[in-house]
Amino acid sequence: MYNNHYKYVSEIINQGLEKANLDGVLIYSGHVNNYFLDDMPYAFACNPHFKWMAPITETPHCIIHYKPNEKAKLYLYQPKDYWHSLAKTPEGEWAENFEIISITCKEDVPDFSGLQNHAWIGQIDSCEFDNLKHNPRTYMDYVHWHRAIKTDYEIENIRQANVLALKGHNAAYQCFKKGYSEFECHMAYMLATKHNEYQLPYGNIVAQNENGAVLHYQHMQRFRQKPENIKSFLIDAGCQVNGYASDITRTHAYDENSEFAKMINAVDSMQIAIGKKAVAGTSYIDLHTQAHLMLSEILSDFDVINCDAPTAHDTGLSNVFLPHGLGHYLGLQVHDIGGHQSDEEGNILSPPELHPFLRLTRTLEENNVLTIEPGIYFIDMLLEKAKASDIGQYINWSRVADFKPYGGIRIEDNIVVKKTKSVNLTRG
Ligand code: GLY
Ligand code: MN
Ligand code: MN
Repeated sequence: MYNNHYKYVSEIINQGLEKANLDGVLIYSGHVNNYFLDDMPYAFACNPHFKWMAPITETPHCIIHYKPNEKAKLYLYQPKDYWHSLAKTPEGEWAENFEIISITCKEDVPDFSGLQNHAWIGQIDSCEFDNLKHNPRTYMDYVHWHRAIKTDYEIENIRQANVLALKGHNAAYQCFKKGYSEFECHMAYMLATKHNEYQLPYGNIVAQNENGAVLHYQHMQRFRQKPENIKSFLIDAGCQVNGYASDITRTHAYDENSEFAKMINAVDSMQIAIGKKAVAGTSYIDLHTQAHLMLSEILSDFDVINCDAPTAHDTGLSNVFLPHGLGHYLGLQVHDIGGHQSDEEGNILSPPELHPFLRLTRTLEENNVLTIEPGIYFIDMLLEKAKASDIGQYINWSRVADFKPYGGIRIEDNIVVKKTKSVNLTRG
């Protein structure tokens, strides 16, 4: 599978180079920077252009030198250093596509100053070669547009990242049912997925009760709720396999017969239905709008709002309860790049004025991978603002008070777009 992937990647790079009138490219894995006034580094995050080509995800200071019709050279950083363990010299199918050259220090890096017509792709604060064109727009836009089409190799990695994350989700949910703290649920996730904090594609969101209303809630309370206070659990957590991410959210009610549990089921069904609509040729903006209409129906069914769905959408009322986009591209980055491009030249299709946080505005194509993550939240800040405005009249405030202690609902799956029937990697 990797070899076919490499073929696709090479074709895209060749065409990107041609468009940008370049002869070759140096792709840099990246490096870490230290905290201000400190000798402690931020976590390393590999350049996605680098890991798109080679599944080396945790090694800084590596460089791939790629030229069309030549075997690519991979300069692998293996410092003579007793502080850290060395990156292993890669073996196997994928490594055969590269001439692998070990570099142990800065002096081992070849002198690239004589290279004509080459680009440098990656962090530029370590690039000492003025002759290289840094991250040229034409090349980047072309590659970012085409990176949205995933190869079988990429889809398989994302699928495996789903399988692994679901083990973690299950372990965390079991802890929630036992009344454990947010932090304990998080640790159960880490243990089940065998990830450390640096390997997670994003910081886990592990929220109980009203904390579920904070979209990117980050604290992880260490205390256990009193049993009579346990209400709800929202966990948004993924894994990485070969640098590819999963991004999954589940919401659970402690009392399975509560109104909140019924609302979760309604959002769950609607989420599955929207996921099925993610087929080639569909505008993601349209899917997002449909999701708002469907969620407005749910809010009306549960008597939270007292107007029809189109009114809820058009007045911005539905944004009070769903203030984020329906989803985003997923792959080497959690929010994979290129979601706002309208073509390979890098023209932009901005999100609609009413939905500025929508990260994906493209018309879907076969083998796009994306998330579908509708939600309903009870967020004080937005509710107060609504109360003070015209749309406040459409909200049944006593029902809001009923649901507020539960925080919110988000259900998030990872979907592969196909011609006629999408594939759900999370429920498969
Ligand atoms: N976990 C971040 C997101 O769902 O986009
Ligand atoms: Mn997401
Ligand atoms: Mn998520």
